Amino acid sequence: MHVFVYFTMFILISSVILASTSILSSVRTERNDLPIVGILAQELRRPPPHKTSYIAASYVKFLESAGARVVPITVNQTLEQYTTLFNSLNGILYPGGGANLTSSGYQRAAKVFYDLALEANSKGDYFPVWGTCLGFEELTYLTSGKLLLSRTNTSGIALPLNFTPDSTQGKMFQGFPADLLKALASEPLTENSHKWSISVESHNSNEELKKFYRILTTNMDGELEFVSTMEAYDFPIYATQWHPEKNAFEWTRPYIPHSPSAIKTTFYMADFFVNEARKSFHRFASQEEERRALIYNFNPDYSGIDNSAFEQKYYF
Ligand SMILES: *[C@@H]1O[C@H](CO)[C@@H](O)[C@H](O)[C@H]1NC(C)=O
Ligand SMILES: *[C@@H]1O[C@H](CO)[C@@H](O)[C@H](O)[C@H]1NC(C)=O
Ligand SMILES: *[C@@H]1O[C@H](CO)[C@@H](O)[C@H](O)[C@H]1NC(C)=O
Repeated sequence: MHVFVYFTMFILISSVILASTSILSSVRTERNDLPIVGILAQELRRPPPHKTSYIAASYVKFLESAGARVVPITVNQTLEQYTTLFNSLNGILYPGGGANLTSSGYQRAAKVFYDLALEANSKGDYFPVWGTCLGFEELTYLTSGKLLLSRTNTSGIALPLNFTPDSTQGKMFQGFPADLLKALASEPLTENSHKWSISVESHNSNEELKKFYRILTTNMDGELEFVSTMEAYDFPIYATQWHPEKNAFEWTRPYIPHSPSAIKTTFYMADFFVNEARKSFHRFASQEEERRALIYNFNPDYSGIDNSAFEQKYYF
């Protein structure tokens, strides 16, 4: 063969090798396409026999819809067990509900993971945290060390978001299509199910909250302006007082919006957070441990049939 042919073959083969190693290394160093996110369980007010806590299945579906797998984090585990889970998971979601914000198994686990997340992220070990409704309120308590909530008339109402001028500096809505942002600002696409809120005034007059979280959106309950979406300035910590997971996955209440824009809101929120989890490289010590921890070990019950706010619930 002519030397030129050898040379061309050499170039071709080496570029194939180069391309494949760079694909492999970019997958390994920049993105974790196998994210696993923990969801906190919480105590039951009226526990069925042999059950102590629950997770609403809509939070599981929310994360799964964007490409994450889910591990339930039950209450009352030891610090050592929570630390092992922290080092195995790529993020955590604090769901809504009715657990006590200052003294409950939910609060204790939330605090353990919050403290571990602050420490890890400060050292460059990425670990995102998300709070929805009660989880949002819990984050205001964990960050400020105080219960600063005010009573609002917001149980069971869908609202449009009032974006703050600062919201364009935030990360959460960056990936949203322009027409969806417009719809969010003008149509009632965000479902609120809370009796307590952090008012914009309380937020801004508490030093810890003010310097820790950027307010992305606010809402009015008629009289009081409250924070409805926030994210930490220096940590991957995100929270909505409203319920992005309900639009696509809960059907038990007439005020939950299900329009095409409402369903996209569920998806783009989940997509945002799961992409954050893809930046974390924690993993289980073994595949066996991972399999034993996953939510697939449990089956949800159909609770919507008993007038629960949730169609399906996992009991633990
Ligand atoms: C957690 O522990 C407390 C105190 O021991 C106990 O009262 C409670 O029932 C436990 N909760 C669950 C869900 O196991
Ligand atoms: C939460 O627990 C604390 C401490 O037990 C208690 O003082 C407070 O009233 C509880 N809050 C609610 C809303 O039940
Ligand atoms: C609460 O808000 C609803 C509208 O969502 C309104 O109909 C009702 O009058 C309000 N209640 C009070 C006590 O302001």
